[in-house]
Amino acid sequence: MYKRIPGTKDILPEEVGLWQAMEETSRKIFSLYRYQEIRPPLIEEASLFNRSLGDSAEIVQKQMFLVKHAQHLFALRPEATASVARAYIENNLDKRENFCKFYYLGPMFRLERPQKGRLRQFHHLGAEAIGSPAAHLDTEVICLADQLLKGLGISGYKIKLNSLGCAKDKNELSSKLQKALKGQSLKLCADCRLRLQKNPLRILDCKQENCQAIVRGLVLGETHLCPECQQHFREVKAGLDALNLDYLVVPHLVRGLDYYTRTVFEIIHPDLGAQDALGAGGRYDNLIKELGGPHTAAIGFALGVERLLLVTSNQKPATSKDFVYLVSLGQEARKQGLKLLAEMRTQGICCDTDYQGKSLKGALRQANDLQARFTLIIGEDELKKHTVTFKDMASGEQKEVEREKCIELILAAS
Ligand code: HAM
Repeated sequence: MYKRIPGTKDILPEEVGLWQAMEETSRKIFSLYRYQEIRPPLIEEASLFNRSLGDSAEIVQKQMFLVKHAQHLFALRPEATASVARAYIENNLDKRENFCKFYYLGPMFRLERPQKGRLRQFHHLGAEAIGSPAAHLDTEVICLADQLLKGLGISGYKIKLNSLGCAKDKNELSSKLQKALKGQSLKLCADCRLRLQKNPLRILDCKQENCQAIVRGLVLGETHLCPECQQHFREVKAGLDALNLDYLVVPHLVRGLDYYTRTVFEIIHPDLGAQDALGAGGRYDNLIKELGGPHTAAIGFALGVERLLLVTSNQKPATSKDFVYLVSLGQEARKQGLKLLAEMRTQGICCDTDYQGKSLKGALRQANDLQARFTLIIGEDELKKHTVTFKDMASGEQKEVEREKCIELILAAS
């Protein structure tokens, strides 16, 4: 018997209601901010992610689902920011409108060791605003993430915020770290020893207690930000304060993707356990240029849908819609019944019937179990008289009506 691959999920019909409700709420909120949906492909040239996320990023090093084809190496997308940036450049979207706001909903793939909240196929609900370095855009993007969470009925989360500074600031901090940690490299974990060579910034958010203690002991000066980046960060914070939005400045928040510059943020929830990030985002002012496009500043974020579902208080699936159950007894009645079902559906009435040859008793029991609002019966008698037995399932009241009338009755009741 085949089983699903560990770290993937079957989203069964009883759960799909929650997903649809979440998607609908998100779409409404995105449209309030005039974000438009974009749907890039799920598969891209692998090098797009190497270039965007950085060769030393964990996702690129260990987690890409790769597919070789002739001379090409493709990857199932581990995230969508790089794809959106590629689509923006390839479709010359900057020439249509030089400021664009996109959102996306869809699956991402990372070859991780599965655990609670960590999947190999998971879903992002994300946004990218491309074309402006303005600090008030950062504030608004964080506010959008906050409104989405609230709109989805989630509370108790924390927004962690930091500024990495521009590319020059990041380089300076990297060199400072390399110098400061030179004598202590043997005390770092194996991953951080490698990071010290390739991507020292990532040592700052290593989860190992030992590395964290070493980082806490470093003297790195008050800030590594240049005056412009300091001013930008001040404006972002002032904007959030003006909106009364709670956040926590975490100077060591760096994020695992190379494309970030200036503002970075992460939203965590205490109920998630070890994988506590509900979502994350930040600026990527150099990415579009690095991928061959015009110099275009941008910012975005993505929320992990499976993690949102783990903490949402709204765990009740949407109740099913009112519907009509038709019981037709015998071959001719079934033929007439199919016609009536088709007419009802054309009139927008949700209806269903038995496909398993149930007896009248069995079919009525099923109508009851499925919580039909009305049950229609066409038996021999009704067939002759061109009528339908019309039963209101709540009151138990039953009457015989002309077939044409029953649609009117149902429509009048809804
Ligand atoms: P990320 O932090 O890699 O950022 O992913 C965002 C969110 O996706 C995480 O906070 C988490 O909730 C969820 N997530 C990540 N990996 C998994 C997994 N294996 N299983 C379940 N959920 C997961 C990005 O991907 C950036 N593209 C965000 C962004 C958009 N930055 C700018 N624009």
